[in-house]
Amino acid sequence: MDIDTLKLRAAERALDYVEPGMKLGLGTGSTAVKFVDLIGARVARGLDVLCVPTSIATRAQAEGLNIPLATLEEQPTLDLTIDGADECDESLRLIKGGGGAHLREKIVAASSTRMVVVADDSKRVAKLGVFPLPVEIVPFGWRTTLARVDEAVRMNGCKGPVTVRGSEDDPFVTDNGNYILDCAFGEIDDPGQVASQLSLLPGVVEHGLFIGMTHAAIIAGANGIELIGEAP
Ligand code: 5RP
Repeated sequence: MDIDTLKLRAAERALDYVEPGMKLGLGTGSTAVKFVDLIGARVARGLDVLCVPTSIATRAQAEGLNIPLATLEEQPTLDLTIDGADECDESLRLIKGGGGAHLREKIVAASSTRMVVVADDSKRVAKLGVFPLPVEIVPFGWRTTLARVDEAVRMNGCKGPVTVRGSEDDPFVTDNGNYILDCAFGEIDDPGQVASQLSLLPGVVEHGLFIGMTHAAIIAGANGIELIGEAP
């Protein structure tokens, strides 16, 4: 089975968590796109939901599908967020931000009673860190912030470089007007410690470690779907 089909299978299974009347957070990325398509089809057949998108791209997709949308200002609490992940370990700790949307994704997930991850089984890892950890930073003074982030992650075992996403001359800009640093850890021994240390650094807006936020992960592989965590 190709990876696209696995992503679709995971997204289909996530529909089991959706009930009429729910307020939903819609994630970002190629797996979340499939879930949003499925919600769009259900809405066209009469499903009543109100959704908060986690990125400009997801909002555009959802608008195109006529999915009823709100902002978090209008709808500050949500029942359920469905989102992808770049890595997921057995304790449902995640690395997110491969698409640069982890700041809004984290705010939306934190506003939800439950967050469920949808992923193909390439995202399942014994230890987080092979996927470079994204850290969103403000553009002002970004090189000094990079140096601080570099020092902090190196003290926590980061083996590879810390690089600004895009290029130094033309950095990638997030939906929030910020830059992203990618930290090539290799392995993260203590994700909780990395998360708290990064959060303290001036210039850092949000890192891509999601710890204690995920209630279930739907992982699709060639042999079927595995559910880690809470059932629907
Ligand atoms: C975007 C994200 C995505 O959820 C993550 O990158 C997974 O994307 P995909 O489903 O395309 O592999 O965190 O910021």
